[in-house]
Amino acid sequence: MAYESFQDWISALDRAGELKRISGPVATELEITELADREMKSPGGGKALLIEQPTVNGQPSPFPVAINTLGSAKRMAMSLGVESVDEAAAELGSLMKAKPPTSFRDAIKLLGQAAELRHARPRRVKDGPCKEQIHRFDSPATRTAPWPAAPDWTRPETFPANSQTLLNLPILKCWPLDGGRFITLPCVVTQDPDSGERNVGMYRVQIYDDRTTGMHWQLQKVAARHGRRYYETGTRMPVAIVLGGDPIFPFAATAPLPDGIDEFLLAGYLRKKSIELVKCETHDLEVPANADFVIEGFIDPAEPLRDEGPFGDHTGYYTLPEPYPVLHITAITHRTKAIYPATVVGLPPMEDFYIGAASVKLFLPMFKMNFPEIIDIALPAEGVFHNLVFVSIKKTYPMQAYKIMHGLWGMGQMMFTKYIVVVDDDVDVHNTSDVLFRLCANTDPGRDTLLTRGPADVLDHATSEIAIGGKLGIDATKKLAGEGFKRAWPPLIKMDPAVKAKVEALLQRSR
Ligand SMILES: Cc1cc2nc3c(=O)[nH]c(=O)nc-3n(C[C@H](O)[C@H](O)[C@H](O)COP(=O)(O)O)c2cc1C
Repeated sequence: MAYESFQDWISALDRAGELKRISGPVATELEITELADREMKSPGGGKALLIEQPTVNGQPSPFPVAINTLGSAKRMAMSLGVESVDEAAAELGSLMKAKPPTSFRDAIKLLGQAAELRHARPRRVKDGPCKEQIHRFDSPATRTAPWPAAPDWTRPETFPANSQTLLNLPILKCWPLDGGRFITLPCVVTQDPDSGERNVGMYRVQIYDDRTTGMHWQLQKVAARHGRRYYETGTRMPVAIVLGGDPIFPFAATAPLPDGIDEFLLAGYLRKKSIELVKCETHDLEVPANADFVIEGFIDPAEPLRDEGPFGDHTGYYTLPEPYPVLHITAITHRTKAIYPATVVGLPPMEDFYIGAASVKLFLPMFKMNFPEIIDIALPAEGVFHNLVFVSIKKTYPMQAYKIMHGLWGMGQMMFTKYIVVVDDDVDVHNTSDVLFRLCANTDPGRDTLLTRGPADVLDHATSEIAIGGKLGIDATKKLAGEGFKRAWPPLIKMDPAVKAKVEALLQRSR
């Protein structure tokens, strides 16, 4: 199902009883976080919030803020237009079976090629609601005079009059020690300068002043690879930051697609309707016509990187400042009645847990395509995305658990996983207590662990050096003779089914 606008999505949440409206003024500095954090930590992810009167430095913003809109299994499914994410995964799984691709990359490419899936491919249009209001600024390339002193967040009187700038958008300062305001749910569009392939990634954006931002694409991400090519060739890098529109966009932007695969293809496939794309005002990148806001700009490879952060992160800790590229804004376009979408990350569980869980479910058929013995995969909330992965397998030969560990560490962003626990197919990996029980019961630590090294998440503060670290695999499956296990493996205690049924009937009668 396709949502034609973010407003359409908010109305659907409202009709489904999934939205709480907050009508009084709420400060974008910390207060929205406190409200949203309480909601995100309530059972099942609470409700989505529409903050109708956000304030920026005490001044009302013209745009409401929507937050936690994807923060529950139900809302995540609604955003994909299905009853449950399993439905979308099953559909993708049967497509893979009907036209077996040879790799994950081919599987996604298939979406754009299959004739019956023509809707997956984006469509170009001339105009769209994201251009209802257009504010252009000097381009850094044409500017000869020095940049004017930036207006200051803390002094609203310095905001340019009658002009839309980053400073009067309701952008959150999420946590007390954050280095400023951050756009937290951006879909960042970049292009490979060699192949012309588009990428859409979710990378937070720090606001430095009214016209410049920090672009936090981490070392191993696709936009960082694009960026390196612009730095190598010394050409300006166009960037577009998309906010709002169909809720499928943020989901697609976080999906761990292989480099070179357009996230708008996945989005079009999932919403069953082509994404309409319109050219930006100040460069040639294309963005969804139905977005609420588009922030356009360029990165100048001659400009030194600038410290980004600190930022209260997914890890539950602050990420300390690190140098990242600076974006100079050349235009902001938006719907007249735009809604500003946001999220907050922090101590788990937060909204991103549900986004990540949906991604794992959706891509499970593709993991299974590579590793048919995989039954299920779970990324428990405590592991904050990929720190901890539980995987159940149908084990048929010795050392198969180790094959899975190596295989997963070699698959895209699974490279960041610190701990992989492999269990047998009778274990529910979504039941952390069950997995921990098997881990404790079925392992001899001296024998069943694999310690290795590899790339680490840039956000991981525990590694001695940034972006490299150790990895631990634990084989908690039943051991086979072929694995050197010479003893008898005892049966798991289970009650006789007939006795269970009899006692159940007895209890029913006495209720
Ligand atoms: C709420 C949220 C915020 C994120 N922020 C960042 C970020 O600031 N930098 C980053 O590199 N990845 C961030 N990620 C993860 C990326 O969006 C994710 O790895 C994505 O697959 C990257 O796309 P790419 O493979 O096209 O580079 C974030 C994910 C979520 C859900």
